[in-house]
Amino acid sequence: MLEVRSKEAVADGVVSLALGHPAGARLPDWTPGSHIDLVLPDGTTRQYSLCGDRWDPYTYRVAVLREPAGRGGSAYVHDRLVPGDMVGVGGPRNHFPLVPSDRYLFIAGGIGITPLLPMIRQAGMAGAEWQLLYGGRSRSSMAFRDELTRAHGDRVHLAPQDECGLLDLTAWLSRPAAGTKVYCCGPGPLLAAVEAACAGLPRHSLRTERFTAKAGTGPVRGTPFEVELRRSGRKVTVTPGISVLQALRQAGADVLTSCEQGTCGTCLTPVVEGTPDHRDSVLADHEREANDCMLPCVSRCRSDRLVLDL
Ligand code: FES
Repeated sequence: MLEVRSKEAVADGVVSLALGHPAGARLPDWTPGSHIDLVLPDGTTRQYSLCGDRWDPYTYRVAVLREPAGRGGSAYVHDRLVPGDMVGVGGPRNHFPLVPSDRYLFIAGGIGITPLLPMIRQAGMAGAEWQLLYGGRSRSSMAFRDELTRAHGDRVHLAPQDECGLLDLTAWLSRPAAGTKVYCCGPGPLLAAVEAACAGLPRHSLRTERFTAKAGTGPVRGTPFEVELRRSGRKVTVTPGISVLQALRQAGADVLTSCEQGTCGTCLTPVVEGTPDHRDSVLADHEREANDCMLPCVSRCRSDRLVLDL
């Protein structure tokens, strides 16, 4: 359990929380792109990107957007959580790591700025060239905009939609310098537009992170398949109406989960044999193609049998 040390409004509808150990102990190390599970006092669990200083071992910082159409987690943080409250914390875990490069283009939409903040700091420390294109509904809704422009000047390109319209992705992505790695986080339509604009770039140029589940691609298999748990030797049949995760639980497997929507990566499970039907929003293309792990809360199976390292 960590203690809420401070809570501060950082933009319209966005608060940042600083969390620390109640006895002042060091916190587990993390890398840019990591997120934590926050278990709120009312029992709800949500994932938030760590957006503070990874070299400060005593403080985690997260920022929370109020989502009126959400399931209540952000409303609890905004309306009820106060400094001194205790929250459960899982992780950190990183499914959005910053790969080494001489050049980066960071693209953020709204609260999607959060995982990019520590990446920007790391890119600067490594001496890489980088630029940030940061869009939002309006200037006042864009968290950390002053912190960014103060620290980094004209490397930061703020593009509030009510002043500039939609981000001009064609201009930014039509001819990036060779070797540029593009990191993007934000709402689904932005990610889809960036993916389309990066279609002509070399493989693995683009890494994205989603806060909401991506729609699955292709039809879902309509017939049962078998899953074998290699370590226990147990077998279970997954029928069309249940998830692999549900089937694993029926077979007695203890799989750690959080979002159960394919967005957090907590349930990542090694695949020993068989071909998963990846329906998550976590794995990068090359990780999907390797077929050596899957997210059983949403992913299914293309072959007749899957063998998992459980
Ligand atoms: Fe979050 Fe499976 S529990 S991806």
